[in-house]
Amino acid sequence: MLEVEGLHVRYRRLRAVRGVSLRVGEGEIVCLVGPNGAGKSSTLRSIAGLHPPAAGEIRLAGRPIAGLAPETIARRGLSMVPEGRHVFTQLTVEENILLGSQMRRDRRQVRADFERMLESFPFLRARLATPGGKLSGGEQQQLVIARALMTRPRLILLDEPSLGLAPMVVDTVYDILRGLRDEGITLLVVEQSTHRALENGDRIYIIRSGQIELEGSCSELTDERVEQAYFGFNQTTDDADDRAHF
Ligand SMILES: Nc1ncnc2c1ncn2[C@@H]1O[C@H](COP(=O)(O)OP(=O)(O)OP(=O)(O)O)[C@@H](O)[C@H]1O
Ligand SMILES: [Mg+2]
Repeated sequence: MLEVEGLHVRYRRLRAVRGVSLRVGEGEIVCLVGPNGAGKSSTLRSIAGLHPPAAGEIRLAGRPIAGLAPETIARRGLSMVPEGRHVFTQLTVEENILLGSQMRRDRRQVRADFERMLESFPFLRARLATPGGKLSGGEQQQLVIARALMTRPRLILLDEPSLGLAPMVVDTVYDILRGLRDEGITLLVVEQSTHRALENGDRIYIIRSGQIELEGSCSELTDERVEQAYFGFNQTTDDADDRAHF
C-alpha cells in the first residue's frame, strides 16, 4: 500500500531524515518508533505532502506521490492524524467530524458515513453540539480519528495517538486502530513506546537519528532487542541503569 525508499527530509541544513526506507502492506498496522527528534514526524509529514522530501521515492498503491500537494495525496486515499491532534476547539464536535469530508461531493454517502462514525464512537452522539475543546484528551483523539475516517482513506498515518492519554484510554485508542485494521484499513502509526508498538502492531520500524535501526515482525521481535535498537545500545555496552526509567 505504501512504499518509501531512500527518503531524505531536510530543514535548511539539518538532515532530519537520512535515507529511510519502509513498507506498509495492505491491511497492516506498522509502527514507526523512536526517541524524541528521531525523525518520526518528519517522515510522516513528508509522506503526507506537508513537507516535501529532499530526496527519495514514495509510492501509494503503486503510484508515486513524493512532492505532490497534500490535497492530491489525500484524494488518493491517504489521511493523516497529526501530532497533537488538532481538534478545532471552537468548532462543535459535528463540525470537526464533517471537516474530514470537505473534499467529498457525495453528500448522501457523507451523511451515511457520519452516522457510521456515531455508531463507532457512541459518546460523540450526545456531544455533537459541544465545542471540540471541551472534550477530554481521549475523546479528542477519537474525534480526530473519526474526522480522518470521513475521507474514506485506504491508509491512515497517525502521529503519536497515545500522547498524553491515560493508559486505559491508550488501550481504547489502540482497540479502535486494530478494529480499523480488521476492516481492511492500512495504518502507519508513530509511537514512542516500544512495548506498546510491539503489543499493537503487525510490524515495527525503529528510527534513530533519521535512520532505520531495526525492522521486523512484532510477533518475532523481543522487547529487549527492540529497546537496544531504540537506545542505540549494542549488547556488550548495554547498561541496565540507563534503561531503568523506560
Ligand atoms: N519545522 C522544522 N524546522 C526545523 N527543524 C525541524 C522542524 N521540524 C523538526 N525539526 C527537527 O528535525 C529533527 C526531527 O524532528 P521530528 O519532529 O521529525 O522528530 P520526532 O521523531 O517526531 O520527535 P518527537 O518524538 O519529539 O515528536 C529534530 O532535530 C527537530 O528539531
Ligand atoms: Mg514527532
